[in-house]
Amino acid sequence: MENFHLLFLVLSSSVFVLSYGFSKNLPTLSFDEGYSQLFGHNNLIVLKDGKSVHLSLDENTGSGFVSQDLYLHGFFSASIKLPADYTAGVVVAFYMSNGDIFEKNHDEIDFEFLGNIRGKEWRVQTNIYGNGSTNVGREERYGLWFDPSDDFHQYSILWTHTHIIFYVDDIAIREIKRTGSMGGDFPSKPMTLYATIWDASEWATNGGKYKVNYKYSPYVAEFSNFVLHGCTVDPIELSSFKCEATPKPNTIPTGVTPSQRTKMESFRKKHMQYSYCYDKIRYKSPPSECMINPKEAERLKKFDPVTFGGGRGSHHHHHHHAKRHRRSQSVSI
Ligand SMILES: *[C@@H]1O[C@H](CO)[C@@H](O)[C@H](O)[C@H]1NC(C)=O
Repeated sequence: MENFHLLFLVLSSSVFVLSYGFSKNLPTLSFDEGYSQLFGHNNLIVLKDGKSVHLSLDENTGSGFVSQDLYLHGFFSASIKLPADYTAGVVVAFYMSNGDIFEKNHDEIDFEFLGNIRGKEWRVQTNIYGNGSTNVGREERYGLWFDPSDDFHQYSILWTHTHIIFYVDDIAIREIKRTGSMGGDFPSKPMTLYATIWDASEWATNGGKYKVNYKYSPYVAEFSNFVLHGCTVDPIELSSFKCEATPKPNTIPTGVTPSQRTKMESFRKKHMQYSYCYDKIRYKSPPSECMINPKEAERLKKFDPVTFGGGRGSHHHHHHHAKRHRRSQSVSI
């Protein structure tokens, strides 16, 4: 009997790690093991432990870093603490892109944090582009259940051949399944990972109504707990790639478990504020992968679609103010 109890305890605690506590048990890298500075001179600071980085934005420049490797599929994650107080016009982005390699038909998977006026919370936006599909934005925006400038939280992207999942801490907040009708719009070419902080005055807060106020600068975003776990791709021979030799730690998720799905649905019901699927101004009929729920449509109506540049005009903006490789402004429209 005693043994049974013990066995049960061991089993249930490992299940706990797998399905709930994964974000606290990820295999992390130091900054130098996985990343290099992309731009921003002294506005990128690697802290003494080598595992944390400060990216800042001041009146001279933003800053950013980029993974040393190109990846085809994998799990990519960082713990991020956003700047506090007045952050209107400030955008922090944690994303994958191959815009410098495929200038006309790039792919992208985005986490974007959109600053706000004092007293209003940061919003989080997720989006994907595939094969240059920048005329079809698939943005969603959410509030969070915590203040992301109070403390570090883990933000993760799982990218496989068949689905993309965005996580905040241990909660899957969005799953994009590859469907036949999406065609090339599903990201399918190797990408690098980026983190940037930049001035998005023209775009970010109420469609550009609130600009970055440099009286409150520098704006500092803190990063740590870097996870880069994917198949690395040779940048010259794009077709040859190798998946990491080390076995995949079981703390890295591979899909949405049933209990995670329940949480995801409850997160989305409570915290989603915008979805491209319900944006009738942009899409007279929603893209084919959308499953329209009239209740959701009704709930989302009360949020202002113009907030954070949604609704009209160009959705695709460049967060790469970078001068590495042949990087240009090619991804902006
Ligand atoms: C991606 O775009 C290229 C160039 O525009 C095109 O030739 C190719 O067929 C597209 N691939 C897919 C999967 O749609």
